[in-house]
Amino acid sequence: MSSAALLEHVLSRRSSDLVMSTDSLHDSLHAHLAHWGLRSFSSDADYFAWQRAALSVADLKQLAEQVERKRSGARQDEIAFYDVTAQPQILPVLYSQRYEYFMEIGHRVASRIASAGTVLDFGCGVGILTTFYARQYPETQFVGVDRSPGSIAVAHARARELGLRNVCFECRDVDVEALQGSYEHIIATHALVQSEQDLGIPSRSWTTFERVRDEPQQATFERRTGIDVRLDRLSAVLNPSGRMMLFEKTRQLARRVPFQRALARRGLQLVESPELIRYCLVEEVADDGPFYVVEKESLRSFAWDEAPEPDEGMPFDRSLLQSAPQDLQDSDMPLYENHWPSAQRAWESLVGRLVEQEETRRESDGRQLHVELGTADGLVYLYCANTFDQRQLILVEGRRKGMLDSYYREILSS
Ligand SMILES: C[S@@+](CC[C@H](N)C(=O)[O-])C[C@H]1O[C@@H](n2cnc3c(N)ncnc32)[C@H](O)[C@@H]1O
Repeated sequence: MSSAALLEHVLSRRSSDLVMSTDSLHDSLHAHLAHWGLRSFSSDADYFAWQRAALSVADLKQLAEQVERKRSGARQDEIAFYDVTAQPQILPVLYSQRYEYFMEIGHRVASRIASAGTVLDFGCGVGILTTFYARQYPETQFVGVDRSPGSIAVAHARARELGLRNVCFECRDVDVEALQGSYEHIIATHALVQSEQDLGIPSRSWTTFERVRDEPQQATFERRTGIDVRLDRLSAVLNPSGRMMLFEKTRQLARRVPFQRALARRGLQLVESPELIRYCLVEEVADDGPFYVVEKESLRSFAWDEAPEPDEGMPFDRSLLQSAPQDLQDSDMPLYENHWPSAQRAWESLVGRLVEQEETRRESDGRQLHVELGTADGLVYLYCANTFDQRQLILVEGRRKGMLDSYYREILSS
């Protein structure tokens, strides 16, 4: 066999091994989730039928109350919520809602653990994924840490039942107490940024997506969301040549930028291009992440991206716009509409823009809002932008100006 043919043979073997190992990882993960009593549903109706059969009215009431209390963001309420979710009748039903999440995250993390001797899973919950990783890598020592006593009790019991000798669980609140030891890998998935309602940090002004490098503002974000203490404590137990795998709800630019800066401030560098992950939950599709792999000492790192994601907004091209067809003459359908960050580029490209009315003001939540009504190239436009990356551009024919007039007033009065 020639050397080129040999190389091709080796490469094709390698890629088929990879496909096989990814497939077998998926199969093992499905089997593992089934062991935990989790089920995958292709329809929401089937899920809710199971939920009604498996949970009593009292269970559902208790859960609804805990979800409501958790919204306050108070530490005790969050712990109480996770304790309730660990109850044996509730666990499989509630966690089945996240079946696809476990599949997406479980295989990504597991396929990157291979060479690690010690792994910490911060905020491991009941240990569904931690026990999966431990089953996959019997030679690796895993530690799962969580502040919910109910979750840790379940994690202990499951690990014992599975006969796992390479995993232990600690009940510890990392906001309150430092971690012990030194780890080659640290995993934190949906655990570091618990403040789901936090808006993040605003852009410099409504005209840009750029964030000022403002240390006090960054520090306030980190303190408000609690990631300052959590990241410091995790970094302190990360082996100098170790890596962290992180997946949080930080997809919006206003949260992504300060989260990334928090990692960079602690000397963590990207070693893979961050990956956005989409998965289905019950009644909802989650666009989440990004999934980050970071290291302190890396020979080759990727630059942090602080730009908005490519979006689905239509590029603006005046020559392609036509008048509304006869049958739509009375409808409110605009000639052009864009609700994505790319609306800013479209607005900038309007030819002969003539502003008729505009207002820029600060809203009660601190965001700067700009609304503008004007004409361009024989059309009437309404542009709206704010410092939390929302953009909107609407163009109509001149005779429909009244529609945008009232929309303009509506935005300013809401
Ligand atoms: C949404 S669950 C995620 C569980 C698991 N990582 C997963 O991916 O399924 C978040 C977990 O983080 C834990 N947690 C949040 N803040 C924590 C802290 N400061 N110290 C320890 N555990 C924490 C919660 O108790 C909860 O079990």
